[in-house]
Amino acid sequence: MITCPHCNNTVKETDTFCYQCGYDLLEDSIGEKAVYLKDSIPESVSLSTINIHKYFSGVKALEGASVVVTKNKLISLIGPNGSGKTTLFNVITGWLEKNNPRIQEKKIEKKEETSLPESTEEDNGKNTKSDYEIPLDIGFVKFEDLRVDGLTAHEVALTGMMRTFQTTRNWPKLTVLENLLVSLPKQAGENILNVFFRRKKIREEERKNTLKALEILELLEITHIRDQIGEELSGGQLKLLALGRLLITSPRLILLDEPMAGINPTLGNKIMDKILELKHESTIFLIEHNMDVVFNYSDEILVMARGKIIAQGNPEEIANNTEVIEAYLGADY
Ligand SMILES: Nc1ncnc2c1ncn2[C@@H]1O[C@H](COP(=O)(O)OP(=O)(O)O)[C@@H](O)[C@H]1O
Ligand SMILES: [Mg+2]
Repeated sequence: MITCPHCNNTVKETDTFCYQCGYDLLEDSIGEKAVYLKDSIPESVSLSTINIHKYFSGVKALEGASVVVTKNKLISLIGPNGSGKTTLFNVITGWLEKNNPRIQEKKIEKKEETSLPESTEEDNGKNTKSDYEIPLDIGFVKFEDLRVDGLTAHEVALTGMMRTFQTTRNWPKLTVLENLLVSLPKQAGENILNVFFRRKKIREEERKNTLKALEILELLEITHIRDQIGEELSGGQLKLLALGRLLITSPRLILLDEPMAGINPTLGNKIMDKILELKHESTIFLIEHNMDVVFNYSDEILVMARGKIIAQGNPEEIANNTEVIEAYLGADY
């Protein structure tokens, strides 16, 4: 066993990159070829997101972000506003396509040479064969051993990874119970042939789903509002409903973007206790501003600044990292 020179994680001599921070042990840099080529992810890893870049016309929101999330843990992602946390979730879950940094560099060079307007075509490494060799340092997102970058958000959701949003969305005219039921992936009744020929199967499935939805309402202690419609709910109830809509799909990886925002601390702690219970079945990747929550509940904390991870460790290690606290988290925390 040796230590990773970047994050001090213990790695095997035979490893080509550090599973904790993405450091390339062969090339001595983050995100070089061994990282890209490595195809066997250890059983214990839920999500590996290595060397991700995302640019919004000049704004470098992500600049080589690498995170590795271990199964059945609660990992928190913290950092100043605008540091790229939500963008990282968007790339992981297929809502945004990552950029290929090599192509971006070439574009900038070209622009400087010719003063042509910037191309609007999307670059994510998939469409590069004709003009460039497939670059080795474009990074990847893997959920367990499945490469998910390049999938649509809908496809990613079917792999067993689910997210909530910073702002809660629901169906305003449906009841709480119905909101849970429509969150389930494709159901037998949606197929017109099934409606005619397989009524019994549909009824059984509906019964099973309703029971599951009722169990979730009970777990979240919102059974009493099951017949209220979405638009009547309070902020806290919306948060719980969003969590319920996610749980009904039994995700193996749950990404939560500021689940505590806008709700009172008592309810916040209650939600966190519920989330902790999920660790037996799922892995939790959490973006959260409330530092009490982060330091009390996390197994590991990742600190993001300017589009990359600048520190990681258990809550004690991060709390003692005065350099990081002062430079990046400052008075906010
Ligand atoms: N859709 C977008 N279009 C343009 N710029 C964006 C978009 N989303 C995020 N950004 C920019 O990317 C940077 C990172 O944003 P974000 O990921 O939302 O940060 P965080 O979640 O850490 O507060 C910010 O400078 C933000 O303004
Ligand atoms: Mg955000």
